[in-house]
Amino acid sequence: MATIRPFKIDDLPQLTQLINTHISMLIPTWGLPSELILSRLEKNPDEPVIDPWVIERVTFCAFVGENLVAAAHLLRYGDTEPVNQNHHKHGDIAWLVFDPEFEAEAMALLEACHAQMKRWEVKSLGAWESGLPIPCLTGISDNWPHIGKLFYEAGYRPNPERAEAVFGGNFDKISPAGQLAERFSMREVINGNKIIVEVTRHEKWVARLEAYVDLAENGTKPALKTWAELSEVEVAENWRRRGVGTMLIDYLVFLLKDAGARQVVFSVAKNDEEAGAGAFYRSFGWQPFSRSQDAWEYEGQL
Ligand SMILES: CC(C)(COP(=O)(O)OP(=O)(O)OC[C@H]1O[C@@H](n2cnc3c(N)ncnc32)[C@H](O)[C@@H]1OP(=O)(O)O)[C@@H](O)C(=O)NCCC(=O)NCCS
Repeated sequence: MATIRPFKIDDLPQLTQLINTHISMLIPTWGLPSELILSRLEKNPDEPVIDPWVIERVTFCAFVGENLVAAAHLLRYGDTEPVNQNHHKHGDIAWLVFDPEFEAEAMALLEACHAQMKRWEVKSLGAWESGLPIPCLTGISDNWPHIGKLFYEAGYRPNPERAEAVFGGNFDKISPAGQLAERFSMREVINGNKIIVEVTRHEKWVARLEAYVDLAENGTKPALKTWAELSEVEVAENWRRRGVGTMLIDYLVFLLKDAGARQVVFSVAKNDEEAGAGAFYRSFGWQPFSRSQDAWEYEGQL
């Protein structure tokens, strides 16, 4: 039987441990410092559009004896300008993590979350919309089967069209772009942590790529040092399957290595993956670390 109560500052070491156990199930070397976890309970700068619409937030912890076995973070959205209509009086269980050995206690925690949402009088309820403060992952990872099962059994359903994979890997299989690059103009803009590369030929747009050089974000996420994120790649339709995408990745990797990155990570929507992006990324030796189901909505009655 669990004791469930709001988070207190003394819970931070155990909360950090529980969250980092889940993050390491995605990428074993990743984790977040306590200070960052604490700051994200109050504000989420990773969601610059929707986070300012949140009018109340609470974190619940479930204990068995002295041990924290489950925790959840809840958001309540307002219903006045500038909150988008879709988010009016919406509730989000932004994340819920638990030790898989304590499934009954996690379900009791989820019930406590529902009771809070009822007190907040939310009109709609979702889960994992905001998520944990880690790059690229949206929704519930398949690497956390205990969490997916819990939400499914409680009456939540994901939107299958929003399924994604987190791909990534090192640069060992990347070879220099070669002569193809001579036929194009490549221009890069480096703005702080962000790189944009534009490819043109005879002044016509051919391809574009965006990336973030350093996911450690000035040392606030030290375990993510040397990881870069690829955030967008697109080749004009009439130029596809002619080596341009490969040339662009080769060039990016040259820039990233120069900036100290050693691995890259990125999310790929299921539709894009199946349409060819998956095969494209695998050609660089990059593989999925995790697959996830997103846009979970509660279909029951509070
Ligand atoms: C994915 C994309 C960037 C690939 O660019 P590209 O210039 O066509 O890629 P390349 O010609 O360098 O392809 C390299 C290899 O990747 C694989 N590949 C690329 N596109 C593929 C496809 N549609 N189907 C299967 N394999 C594919 C092949 O192995 C290919 O080598 P091959 O042509 O010798 O068989 C391009 O198709 C695109 O812009 N798609 C739409 C946007 C998109 O999905 N972006 C990724 C979002 S995460």
